Amino acid sequence: MEVRVFDDADALGRFAAEQVIEAIKTSPDAVIGLATGSSPLPLYAAWAELAREQSLDQSRVRGFALDEYAGIDPEHPESYHTVITKTVVEPVGLSPELVLVPAADATTEAAAEYEAAIVEAGGVDVQILGIGRNGHLGFNEPGSPLDSRTRKIELTAETITDNARFFASSADVPTHAITQGLGTIMDARKLVIVAVGEAKAAAVAAAINGPITEALPASVAQRHPNVVYVLDRAAASQLP
Ligand code: F6R
Repeated sequence: MEVRVFDDADALGRFAAEQVIEAIKTSPDAVIGLATGSSPLPLYAAWAELAREQSLDQSRVRGFALDEYAGIDPEHPESYHTVITKTVVEPVGLSPELVLVPAADATTEAAAEYEAAIVEAGGVDVQILGIGRNGHLGFNEPGSPLDSRTRKIELTAETITDNARFFASSADVPTHAITQGLGTIMDARKLVIVAVGEAKAAAVAAAINGPITEALPASVAQRHPNVVYVLDRAAASQLP
């Protein structure tokens, strides 16, 4: 496991984006796992900039989002369908038809189809991840089996509170979501875990140095052979 700590958001974003760009240079039809939320925004900004500077052909790059709120209208401004389009597909210049987001109906069939689509694409080359204050990856809340697959889950009160900032109030935050499982995430060939800010420091320290446990889902990444944590000073502040 590699841990990189950065003083400024631009350098952090560039380093994280380079992990993705390298995969695309190696294979023009690379498969990139996409997270929403605030953590990967510097990565997406740098990816867009570097791809433009380098005139990178990204027409065949494929993407799979980690998760989606259950029951949300995909046209809702805060649906992950919309967020992935606005923060990744459009600025980076990916082919929209090659980027999938789990279906908001969150049925068992939709979950199985999503897993099958990832396999059919050849698996994820680089999975971009944020980490929740409670150590969640995707929407795999504490207690999620470490070998879980894509499925519908119930969000914890803490996650609903954290995500209320994107909605009019916490009452408007969906209570359920569909998420890739921890086993699905672990199948990716590389994990890039981005964390920014003091609020993530305890989860980051526990994920890196604590026991591997369902109580802190991100701890499962200790078992991954190719993982890089990309942190700012505040997120790294509880590391030894
Ligand atoms: C996003 C996701 C979540 C977030 C995590 C951190 O698709 O599944 O696991 O990565 O909640 O969110 P931010 O980055 O907003 O702090």
